[in-house]
Amino acid sequence: MAKQIAIASDHAGFELKSILKAVMVEEGYEVLDLGTDSKDSVDYPDFGYAMADAITSKRAECGVVVCGTGIGISIAANRHPGIRAALCHDVTTARLAREHNDANVMALGGRLIGTEVAKQCLTAFLQTPFGGDRHAGRVKKLGAPPV
Ligand code: RB5
Repeated sequence: MAKQIAIASDHAGFELKSILKAVMVEEGYEVLDLGTDSKDSVDYPDFGYAMADAITSKRAECGVVVCGTGIGISIAANRHPGIRAALCHDVTTARLAREHNDANVMALGGRLIGTEVAKQCLTAFLQTPFGGDRHAGRVKKLGAPPV
């Protein structure tokens, strides 16, 4: 079965979301599009939360979120336990987000990143396995913050 990937954005990320969705469909991934569906103004938390729900309910294995900067939507997604959303700017941050942090969501800034770099980030995010080993204990601690 094809890997199920969720994608979500606000209005500022809509254009890049459409591009990345097309790339994933072309590559044979099953894409769960959580919206938004146009450039009409919406609130990024709604879409960060929708992504968190899709992953925690196991409707998707991992996901990509896009807003203007990638900041707001990654903050929203990260407010949910079990979500490790990484704001990535280039192929190296996308690769290391997987290798070191086992990120299950990649956030991109649709108003900041170039289309080709975003596509490279997508490939790195989807194809890089978690490194495990010394990183495993650290990632485990992310799921159990001190109170
Ligand atoms: C929308 O104008 C913009 O604030 C939003 O896309 C995002 O950049 C917030 O972090």
